[in-house]
Amino acid sequence: MFQSIGRKGTFSTKYDDAIKKFGTSDLLPLWVADMDLASPQCVQDTLKKRAAHPIYGYTVYPDAYYVAIQTWMKTRFNWDIKKEWIVPCYGVVPSLNFAITAYSEEGDAVIIQTPLYPPFKSSIQHKNRKVLDNTLVYKEGQYRIDFDDFEAKARNAKLFLLCSPHNPTSRVWDKKELEQMIEICLKHDVVIISDEIHADLVYQKIYFSLGSFEKIMDKCIILNAPSKTFNIAGLNTSFAIIPEIGLRKSFIVEQNKSGITNGNPFGIEALISAYMDGAVWLDTLKEYLVSNIRDVETFLKKHHIPIYVVPTEATFLMWLDCKELHLSHEELLEFFFYRAKLGLNDGKSFSNAGEGFMRLNIGTSKEVLEKALAQLLKAYKEIA
Ligand SMILES: Cc1ncc(COP(=O)(O)O)c(C=O)c1O
Repeated sequence: MFQSIGRKGTFSTKYDDAIKKFGTSDLLPLWVADMDLASPQCVQDTLKKRAAHPIYGYTVYPDAYYVAIQTWMKTRFNWDIKKEWIVPCYGVVPSLNFAITAYSEEGDAVIIQTPLYPPFKSSIQHKNRKVLDNTLVYKEGQYRIDFDDFEAKARNAKLFLLCSPHNPTSRVWDKKELEQMIEICLKHDVVIISDEIHADLVYQKIYFSLGSFEKIMDKCIILNAPSKTFNIAGLNTSFAIIPEIGLRKSFIVEQNKSGITNGNPFGIEALISAYMDGAVWLDTLKEYLVSNIRDVETFLKKHHIPIYVVPTEATFLMWLDCKELHLSHEELLEFFFYRAKLGLNDGKSFSNAGEGFMRLNIGTSKEVLEKALAQLLKAYKEIA
């Protein structure tokens, strides 16, 4: 069902921009967070049908769009949401930017938890806000939150940008951890922006959307999209869920000021189709991704490659602790990019706390993954 699909020449960032990123195209690109796997058949069919109509003009968000989001939230996360809470959006990153300007002033402080997907930090900096880094604690191969530090930072913060599940560590925050963060933010009057773009790809654990906690409903906004889940990130179609009317209005004001308000006819069609008919495909995809994760873990162990895999609780992104390779930062990049010929994300690009780690995208076919692992083994043997 999931096969290798050539993407070169389709203007794909992962393949066609690899030369810009790595200075060479002679590598397997396993970086940017989309998959090499085809979107579900229902989405493909819907898009083909829409494309067959030869007019691609301005588009409204139909009722079916809202119903699809409500249905998905209810069936996947047992969360009842009202239609009026939903704000159609372009990408999640633009929405992070709107939220920052909507709920804080220049000079205000915003909490994040690094290592972290870089646009969180840069969005705060671009808006002239102060970054408060509640760096995650990495101990015994697991990431945890330092709650004392979190509370100390919350005392001075206006906003908290939560990444849930977390990219790049793939942590799925437990109910207890979420409750603790909620308590602290309520106590110190901190609004939480929860980026839940990876929520559909959670393995084993039960996932709780932050918005489903009654207590925080009036002090949070949820950002989500079908983009990672159904491999349709290029369609730039996402949404915010904002239960509280004041927060919702301020968000929409910022969105209007940016001028980024029009929907994409293909994105809307794809969202409806994916959320209404894509559940079975998604469950199969998750099994496939879990088996890819296991393949990587088994291979590393079998060949005694001293790379530790931080438990992959969610996402198609594996966070590899490479410190036991005993390479400097530059040597590690040289090892992966030019010796193993593998284009992974440099852990340090997620903050200094990510130094010594690499992020591997396993949202690809078994064939590509096997090739990648063979290249890794060959390179390791050369330096061992
Ligand atoms: C946590 C997180 N948020 C947002 C995005 C990007 O979202 P968008 O393309 O909708 O701006 C990514 C992409 O990797 C991500 O990992």
